[in-house]
Amino acid sequence: MNLSGKRIVVGITGGIAAYKTIEFIRLLRKAEAEVRVVLTPAAAEFVTPLTLQAISGNAVSQSLLDPQAELAMGHIELAKWADAVVIAPASADFIARFTVGMANDLLSTLCLATASPIFLASAMNRQMFAQPITQQNLTALQARGVQLVGPNSGFQACGDVGTGRMSEPMEIFTVLSDFFSQNQDLQGLNVVITAGPTREPIDPVRYISNHSSGKMGFAIAESFAKCGATVSLIAGPVSLNTPKNVNRINVISAQEMWQVSLESAVKNHIFIGCAAVADYRVANVSEQKIKKSSDEISLKLIKNPDIIADVGHLTEHRPFTVGFAAETQNVADYAKDKLQRKNLDMICANDVSGGQVFNADENALQLFWKGGNKILALKSKKDLAADLVNEIVEQYKKTR
Ligand code: PMT
Repeated sequence: MNLSGKRIVVGITGGIAAYKTIEFIRLLRKAEAEVRVVLTPAAAEFVTPLTLQAISGNAVSQSLLDPQAELAMGHIELAKWADAVVIAPASADFIARFTVGMANDLLSTLCLATASPIFLASAMNRQMFAQPITQQNLTALQARGVQLVGPNSGFQACGDVGTGRMSEPMEIFTVLSDFFSQNQDLQGLNVVITAGPTREPIDPVRYISNHSSGKMGFAIAESFAKCGATVSLIAGPVSLNTPKNVNRINVISAQEMWQVSLESAVKNHIFIGCAAVADYRVANVSEQKIKKSSDEISLKLIKNPDIIADVGHLTEHRPFTVGFAAETQNVADYAKDKLQRKNLDMICANDVSGGQVFNADENALQLFWKGGNKILALKSKKDLAADLVNEIVEQYKKTR
């Protein structure tokens, strides 16, 4: 089981949904996870420490200054012990305190003190959930890497109907289980990924580019980093936040991307070319803004270097090289041709016909490598990236 032996701190804050957390803890125990429960004072009004102790198999922690804890510092002890912290239910009050970094009870303090991933299943009245301040707090926490689970819509204990119900125990369990199902053992692996478009200048104010948003490449970088790999992300001009623990290098043009990529490729075990690199650039970039003096103008375009082909054909320190093929027709055939021509170890065929994929939140891929292929079905780019990382690592390991 993914969760077998994993050490999970379950934080419970004050809310009627706390009764559902008992079932969540039972699921964790059934999956052979070790569980330690932290209760806020308000949570203890809804569920008893005795019940939680019986279900979790461990004494329940409630106080920041606990004479029973090692060195009387329960928050540090628990923060270091946890492989993950799950707060369910997370009340509006707790979310607000956590967002501003308060440390005035055991749970908020341990959340500040832990380096482990934190999952937060919020539960509150629909109006409280919809308040801009609550939404801002959740967005801020998400940007800090906290993983939000739910909430769901439906009948609420207060009689309202709307969004704010805590996710069901099995839903929270599945998110956690999926997280641990990712290959966690990529420490020591160095990976470099290109993402986004390139921009090829025409004059000081105009350029040629494409619709790549960077979402696919950034999701791959995030997924590798979550698994412990050392990740460099060579990003064209996109407006995405840098994933946690990823070293980002910004570039604009294909030539810049080529230079940084070739320098990085030889220092990494795996190179992934997810960027939509402009195949051509303008031969004579105008130093001044081109004036609208005639009805037609012609731009002479010349070929850009093919980054992934140059990486694939390296003769020394060549990394395991993975390309993408964005095609609108004959997708599989063109992809297989690129696999061979660019001397790649794997290619991810992307059917981009009908305007799908570029800048979308979902994607599907067909992977090809020498002697094999695999379809990765349509799903969010983040989930797809997790699957892709597993496939790349599996094929990479066969070559070492
Ligand atoms: O960024 P998103 O909005 O999330 O969209 C994701 C994506 C569609 C951009 C991505 O999934 C994708 O398919 N990227 C490759 C796009 C592309 O340029 O495909 P291509 O078939 O033209 O190129 C084939 C391979 O050669 C690619 O790995 C590309 O990075 C590489 N290439 C191309 C030209 C060039 N001069 N140098 C290159 O390295």
